Amino acid sequence: MNIDLSATWQEASTVTLRGHAAVVIDVLRATSTIVTAIQSGAREVIPVETPEDARLAAQEPRADRVVLGGERGGLKIEGFDFGNSPYEYTPRSVGGRTVIMTTTNGTRAFAAARGANITVAAALLNVGSVADFLLREGRDVVIICAGTEGRVSLDDLYCAGALIERILTPGADWVLNDGARLAVHWYGTNTGTSVDVLASCAHGRKLAELGFHRDVEYCSRVDTVMEVPVLRGRSLVSR
Ligand code: MLT
Repeated sequence: MNIDLSATWQEASTVTLRGHAAVVIDVLRATSTIVTAIQSGAREVIPVETPEDARLAAQEPRADRVVLGGERGGLKIEGFDFGNSPYEYTPRSVGGRTVIMTTTNGTRAFAAARGANITVAAALLNVGSVADFLLREGRDVVIICAGTEGRVSLDDLYCAGALIERILTPGADWVLNDGARLAVHWYGTNTGTSVDVLASCAHGRKLAELGFHRDVEYCSRVDTVMEVPVLRGRSLVSR
């Protein structure tokens, strides 16, 4: 079995997805927020690429109980209901609702996963549950880290390493590409220090400058959520 990691969503354009399980990771903060929204009882989260796409999707006739969420430059988009802070996605704000979400990198990574047989959203919050899900699926795995504007993000790589560590079961014959090997190495040298890794990486520092320290701490929590959001059509739903 193979595990192939792309360090940015742009890099994933060269990867074979057919027949594979794709895992999208954007720890700071898109997939952490999506996992939280689904845990809070959102009916579905629809990741779209641009704010215009989000506004159009919200106008579709079948769109009821819809909220718009996401960010540009880390901040809430004008006219949207919510930004990209997981703390905004509570049972009260999104329970039973459709969330249409657009973020700078994370929601684009879902578009980059198009063509995979199954696509899931992973963050540190649900990394153990995603590993169990992938082991049950038994397919080759493509991990698509969102990265930050075309550059590697250590937070995503750390989560990918934690995920791979959990699926490398003894006895199974796994083949890792160089990106996957790098993620395992990075995670292995920092096990147990997720909050320090997230606070010190470039995007974590930027979020702190914007006043989102609490989000960085929240996104560094490991295995606190059982949900594995799975893409069905264009919607991420609770498995
Ligand atoms: C992104 O998609 O680039 C991130 O989720 C940005 C953020 O932290 O809001």
